[in-house]
This record gives sequence, C-alpha cells and structure tokens, in this order.
Amino acid sequence: MQLLDTLNRPLRDLRISVTDRCNFRCVYCMPKEIFGSDYQFLSRDEILTFEDIERLARIFVTHGVSKIRLTGGEPLVRRDLHLLISMLSKIPDLDLTLTTNGALLAKQARALKDAGLKRVTVSLDSLDNEIFQAMNDVDFPVEKVLEGMDVAAEVGLLPIKVNMVVKRGLNESSVLPMARYFREKGYILRFIEYMDVGHSNGWRMDDVVPAAEIVKMINAEMPLEPVDPNYKGEVAERWRYKDGSGEIGVVASVTQAFCSTCNRARLSAEGKLYTCLFAVKGHDFRELIRNGATDDEISQEIARVWGKRGDRYSELRSENTMSLPKVEMSHIGG
Ligand code: GTP
Ligand code: 5AD
Ligand code: SF4
Ligand code: SF4
Repeated sequence: MQLLDTLNRPLRDLRISVTDRCNFRCVYCMPKEIFGSDYQFLSRDEILTFEDIERLARIFVTHGVSKIRLTGGEPLVRRDLHLLISMLSKIPDLDLTLTTNGALLAKQARALKDAGLKRVTVSLDSLDNEIFQAMNDVDFPVEKVLEGMDVAAEVGLLPIKVNMVVKRGLNESSVLPMARYFREKGYILRFIEYMDVGHSNGWRMDDVVPAAEIVKMINAEMPLEPVDPNYKGEVAERWRYKDGSGEIGVVASVTQAFCSTCNRARLSAEGKLYTCLFAVKGHDFRELIRNGATDDEISQEIARVWGKRGDRYSELRSENTMSLPKVEMSHIGG
C-alpha cells in the first residue's frame, strides 16, 4: 500500500538513528560547549531495542520503504550494531546502509558486511589533519578514517560514498585535494552545503559555500558533466569526470532545495518519527510499542502521520523559519 503525503510524495527512505551519542564533537553538529561532559544523553531504557527497530522497519517496508539508512549520532558506537544489521538484512529487497564518521569502521567493517550490510557512507571534512581535527574537535586523525574506508572497500561494502560538509572559511581549501584523492580511489565524494539544522551550530548564510561554486571550482581543474539521478528524489545531484574517472555529488539543500521530491522519514533513537530534518516535533512510536500496540495499529499511525505531512522547510527557509526551535542533527542523524 503506497502512502502519499499532502504534496503527493511517497515514503521510500527511512533513516533510523540508533544512538544520540558520538565519539566526535564536530563544531557544526555537536559543539563541545553544548555537548560537554554534563550533557544528558538518552539512557539505555529510553532508546528503542533492536527488536523494536526491526519490528518498526518491517512495518515501514509494507508502506513502501525500500531504503533504510542507520545513523546516529555515530551508529557504530551502539553496542553490537552488527546484530541489528543481521536482523534488518533479512528483510527482502531493501537497500540497507549506514552513515558513519569512520572512526570505528576498520574494526567493524568485516562484521557489518558478514551481517548483511550492503554499503557505507563515510563523513570526512578534510584530508588536512589540522583542519579535520579542528572540525571533529576530538583530535581524531584523518589516516584512521581513510583506513576505515579502505577496510570497508576490501570487505566489499561498495560503493563507498564520502560526505564532506563544506563550511566557508573553515574547509573550502580542502575541496580540491579531497576531489583529487577520492577520484583516484574510486569513492564517490559528495559535497554538502552547510545547513541550519538544530539550534546549536550558530549557522549563518555566509557560512554556506554554494554547490554551484564547488562544481565550478572542480570543473576548472577536472572537467565535469552532469549525470541523471539514479532515482527520483535522490538527494545528491550527480556529476561525472569527463575523462571517465568517476563521479561526485553535491547536496545543495540550501541553495537549491529539493523538498518537492522528499520521500524521507526519520526515526530517532528514542522512537520519535520526524517527517522533516528540520521538524520541531516527532511522533512517539516508542510509547505506542510500550503500550502494546499491534502491528496494525502501528501501521495505521504511520499512515496517519505521513498522510498529513506537508513539510518543505528548505523551500521556505527564511528569517522567520530559521529562528524556530528544531530537533538537533545528532538526534536524527542528518
Ligand atoms: P544515498 O544517495 O543513498 O547514498 O544517501 P543519501 O544521500 O540520502 O544519504 P546521506 O546520509 O549520505 O545524506 C547526504 C547529506 O544530505 C547529509 O548531510 C544529509 O543530512 C543530507 N540530507 C539527506 N536527506 C536530506 C533531506 O531530506 N533534507 C535535507 N535538507 N538534507 C538532507
Ligand atoms: N549541515 C550539513 N551537513 C551536516 N551533517 C551534520 N551536520 C550538518 C550540517 N549542519 C552531515 C554529517 C553527515 C551527514 C549525515 O550529515 O557530516 O555526513
Ligand atoms: Fe558525530 Fe556525525 Fe555529528 Fe560529527 S556530524 S558530531 S561525526 S554525528
Ligand atoms: Fe525533506 Fe524537510 Fe529536507 Fe525539505 S527540508 S528535503 S522536506 S527533510
């Protein structure tokens, strides 16, 4: 049964946050001043169990979800994540993937692959240690992330995608070195416009490097041509090197909003369903589960929530919407 929201958008992509914790403190996502040692993360009994997640996932799939992406915080800090992967990988015809900062990837890639994970996306904002460490703010070295990607590639978690958030004045200088390096490697690098998610990153429009500027910069050195999307509603706009040496993507959610085809729902670690990355409020599915709801009741609630969805934050972004309270990125994993 295919659900459509009020703007006729189907539900295809479910992003499940498995923890609100992270071993990095990226300045644009979990700044230390806010996510310090006294920050109250969710406790074990507040987050969904693997059984809860699997059950919800199966119900979502009956509503047309064909891709599930695990996120965090950092998903690999959730204990025994491979067990969840092995439960989810039994669901047929599912594109099952995750977005990680790569810190624990070298250690876990084999177990994740064996459990049935198909591919991974790794976040990395610079190849320059000084810049990268200033961004992750925990002195984590670039080499370890690159090693994680290479182990992931060796065990066959392919294709490897790399996400680079570009912030003006901070890591613009890393755009070309990143493009050169990952072209060589054959990993798909995607440049992400810095977004005003949450309310702790002090976002300003001046901090955004428009995707068009990035494409222009790379094209000047390594000529590019546009490629059609893999599927309707793909987030990243694709470009390929004219010499056939691979492709890149740009996620231009600020300068070219893509809400009109947005088919994504987000489930937080505590079981709240958000119908937009910039949502103010989630719908509590943990409560439903813990109150003994049947699969049918949960299914109806999903249909009800999606049926009244009208979110298009990025298209409406303005002085007024920017100051609204929003959920933190680390709660819903981007
Ligand atoms: P694949 O193309 O399947 O690999 O995944 P993806 O691009 O959907 O997922 P990924 O987690 O790599 O997302 C790339 C970037 O786009 C992240 O920074 C996300 O936060 C951002 N993003 C993903 N979905 C949305 C969305 O619906 N709205 C906005 N504004 N940004 C999004
Ligand atoms: N703007 C853009 N992307 C962000 N991410 C985290 N915070 C932001 C932000 N403010 C990215 C992460 C990861 C992805 C899921 O979201 O780096 O690659
Ligand atoms: Fe952690 Fe990812 Fe947020 Fe960085 S962007 S703090 S790695 S969740
Ligand atoms: Fe979807 Fe909201 Fe992002 Fe628009 S702003 S693309 S509706 S998640």
